[in-house]
Amino acid sequence: MKSKASAPGKVILFGEHFVVYGVKAILCAINKRIAVTAEKIDERKISIKSNIGHLELEPNKPISEINSPLKPFYYLANKIIQDKNFGIKIDVESEIPLGVGLGSSSACCVAGAAAISNLFENNSKEEILKLAIEAEKTIFQNTSGADCTVCTFGGLMEYDKENGFSKIESEPNFHLVIANSNVEHSTESVVAGVRKFKKNNEAEFSKLCKDESHLIENVLELLKENNIRELGERVIKNQEYLERIGISNAKLREMIQTGQNSSFGAKITGAGGGGCIFALTDESNLENTIKEFKEKNHECFSVKIDFKGLDTF
Ligand code: MEV
Repeated sequence: MKSKASAPGKVILFGEHFVVYGVKAILCAINKRIAVTAEKIDERKISIKSNIGHLELEPNKPISEINSPLKPFYYLANKIIQDKNFGIKIDVESEIPLGVGLGSSSACCVAGAAAISNLFENNSKEEILKLAIEAEKTIFQNTSGADCTVCTFGGLMEYDKENGFSKIESEPNFHLVIANSNVEHSTESVVAGVRKFKKNNEAEFSKLCKDESHLIENVLELLKENNIRELGERVIKNQEYLERIGISNAKLREMIQTGQNSSFGAKITGAGGGGCIFALTDESNLENTIKEFKEKNHECFSVKIDFKGLDTF
């Protein structure tokens, strides 16, 4: 017996880093997916195959002893076959570049939780999200759960630490051109750098948080109006704030400059220090924006908002 599920990746549109200090962030799911197929097998083992490698283990290994990016799948499979007398084989196919801030690990956790648990019973999206967040904690203990939430429900979402998540009921018609710096980054160390900036510049940081909050309220209005040109101006402004807190670098600045030649605005998405940037476009400047990146030899691709979220087969 087989069960299959897929979940989208995500981008943070506005508010990364400031969200750590209580400011609202805006995220959206993107139409690049990870698909997971789970299958019951007679042999009592957990076998995981993906384009980043293989993992094959017996059940009941302590999670802390597993050193593999595939361990959320092991955690999920192990939890579900605890009292059963068979094993699980898992196949992962990804359209999302890994480890560059586009939600690949959250999409794995959500699609994995659905495919594996649906082998036994059909669960609601809320139940799958709970399982997915548990699995994500095996690789990122302090996850806010924001990424798994947007990958589960799709669409646009606002999030702040105090109030949690709420869906933004709007379907703006933009394309994001994502460019990948291919520079690896550690979210933890970039977040630590921002903490240091805050400590040394309390007054400026507090003003930046206020400015970011104001910008986000404005963005929420513009999203409802589908006003992409003005949203682009807010993208540029948000990038200025991110530059101030020290998460950019020469490579990212050059990519942002390239993105800004034709698009409405470009900024870092996620932790920064490496990873990806996006440029905001519509049909009128999508092709030219892609051309600009390609002329400078930057790896890029375009995405739209995914409104479906988790899908099961
Ligand atoms: C990383 O994708 C987003 C940050 O804001 C960290 C976080 O929210 O935990 C940089």
